[in-house]
Amino acid sequence: MTPELRVMRGDLRVPGGSPPGGGRRHLLSVADLSADDVERLLATAASFGRSLEREVKKLPTLRGRTVVNLFFESSTRTSSSFELAAKRLSADTMTIRAAGSAVDKGESLKDTALTLGAYDPDVIVIRHPQIGAPQLVAGCTEAHVVNAGDGKHQHPTQALLDLYAIREELGRLEGLHVAVVGDVLHSRVARSLVQALALVGASVTLVGPPALIPRGIEAMGCEVAYDIEAIGAADVVYVLRMQRERMLEGAAYVPSLREYSARWGVTPERLRPGQRVMHPGPMNRGVEIDPRVADASHALIGLQVRAGLVVRMAVLYDLLTSGPVGVPAAAAVGVA
Ligand code: CP
Repeated sequence: MTPELRVMRGDLRVPGGSPPGGGRRHLLSVADLSADDVERLLATAASFGRSLEREVKKLPTLRGRTVVNLFFESSTRTSSSFELAAKRLSADTMTIRAAGSAVDKGESLKDTALTLGAYDPDVIVIRHPQIGAPQLVAGCTEAHVVNAGDGKHQHPTQALLDLYAIREELGRLEGLHVAVVGDVLHSRVARSLVQALALVGASVTLVGPPALIPRGIEAMGCEVAYDIEAIGAADVVYVLRMQRERMLEGAAYVPSLREYSARWGVTPERLRPGQRVMHPGPMNRGVEIDPRVADASHALIGLQVRAGLVVRMAVLYDLLTSGPVGVPAAAAVGVA
């Protein structure tokens, strides 16, 4: 067995050592992961990436398994990539969105989870505006639960796909410097990414208006700067969306979007040659990111979307299989 295939054998760590519901494993937060977990997941994702280069992209790995995607908040990238990831691995999938479901009639999250749990899904992927919603689902169903974004708290698979995309592009993670620019206050992407970059030995500077950088966030092991010039020192400039849906009504975080764009927008003039630019999407072109930057060859935004598919395949695989000892991992993962 090659070392690369051997790393597929482990499994995700369980938060707090003892998950709700016994021995099931969940991915609720980047805090659930060790550096070894991250390395294993990225290696597994790379292996799936090679399998997707083949003409026939479907693998038999999760045949007979069921993945429920439960989206209580809008999503394009995360919902589509989880669904496609499950399909590429031959799992049965269902995607339930709040709009058009019984949530419209007032059904609670717990009752929704209990209802879908009655079908015995193996995995429930959940996005919800409330922090802690994935933990609630983990506590009242028998499924493995993956957090696809809960409020401004966590979006662990986004952080993993960002690491994957950076390593694909730059060949390494350790020692890199990433500037995360914009609305950190409301960003689950930023919180997850800061933790994930720390795990792999990269450094982070958060850059933005004082009102959009949480006080004391340096305790997570990052630097803070309020001047956009601080992005000049970074290898990667990671641009965050202004998350108006999470902003308190009437609160003045910035004088205006025009002023925000003028002072903190990422433009070609503010970048130096060789810097890579990332954005989790969806973008507000002309607000936090200049369209010339978004469409430039040094923008990794398309790579991030592609990474989302293979990383989510790896997460589903890792939760549902650990490959019995003695069986070649290549057979376990279904890659010939
Ligand atoms: N990055 C991200 O979570 O995108 P979606 O909201 O489209 O899923």
